[in-house]
Amino acid sequence: MRLENKVAIVTGAGRGMGNAMARRFAHEGAQVVVAEIDEASAHQTYEQIERRGILVMTDMSDVAQINALIDKTVARYGRVDILVNNAGVTRSLGFFDVTEADWDWMYSINARGLFFCMQRAAREMVKQKAGKIINIASIAGKGFRGTSNIAYAGTKGAVIAMTRIAAAQLARHNINVNAICPGATRTHLYETIQQELIAKRGVTAEELERRMDASIPLGRSNSPDDIANMACFLASAEADNITGQSFNVDGGLVWD
Ligand SMILES: NC(=O)c1ccc[n+]([C@@H]2O[C@H](COP(=O)([O-])OP(=O)(O)OC[C@H]3O[C@@H](n4cnc5c(N)ncnc54)[C@H](O)[C@@H]3O)[C@@H](O)[C@H]2O)c1
Repeated sequence: MRLENKVAIVTGAGRGMGNAMARRFAHEGAQVVVAEIDEASAHQTYEQIERRGILVMTDMSDVAQINALIDKTVARYGRVDILVNNAGVTRSLGFFDVTEADWDWMYSINARGLFFCMQRAAREMVKQKAGKIINIASIAGKGFRGTSNIAYAGTKGAVIAMTRIAAAQLARHNINVNAICPGATRTHLYETIQQELIAKRGVTAEELERRMDASIPLGRSNSPDDIANMACFLASAEADNITGQSFNVDGGLVWD
């Protein structure tokens, strides 16, 4: 087991890739802290991992709740080995449709919450002289033109930049910070965006899926397990000498 006895926090662990990562980490021997805003899906994940960890209801847009998440983890386990900053939100918006409220909503979770969670978790990792932080960015942060909206792409660009700076500033404490940039990944978020596009463009779900798959060099979108595979590697000792990187998992949609 690659993560035996490690303590791993996964934010947004209720659904989608967060759920897949929580299940994979538990399977690999970690104690998983399920951090989630949605009660029903949080409990579902917690049962799926056979309560191998703790459940801490957390709104990632609220720094006080983020601090409480780390405090509860440390109170229970005495340390934080792995943080996966996965919780993220978006919706389909044209350039002229983005409002201040949309901007604040996406930045508060995807960028601001992600930073303060890294900062608070790193305070513990510094004491341990070890830690692995994995930020879930997106190929949108590298300029993928099919992004759900421009503000979302900005939040993910911020994640990629912060991953590099955090890696540089935490390296001397033996803390690795990397990002994963998923391409199209079949989750609840993805389904919601697809439904919004179907309504806007008047195409069928099958046609939208066909066009997306045709644009991907390897010919298919991700399953959440594709992301869990990369996250598990980055969280493990196999990735001990990797930091500051942002890895695309996207079937070849974006090259850089
Ligand atoms: N699905 C894709 O195609 C895709 C592509 C690139 C990047 N991503 C990124 O991957 C990450 C996971 O997305 P997903 O597709 O699994 O989405 P999802 O909506 O299926 O799951 C996201 C989870 O985060 C939770 N969440 C939302 N707001 C929260 C908050 N304020 N506090 C705590 N939890 C919160 C949700 O309840 C949900 O369980 C996000 O950061 C997203 O931006 C997704």
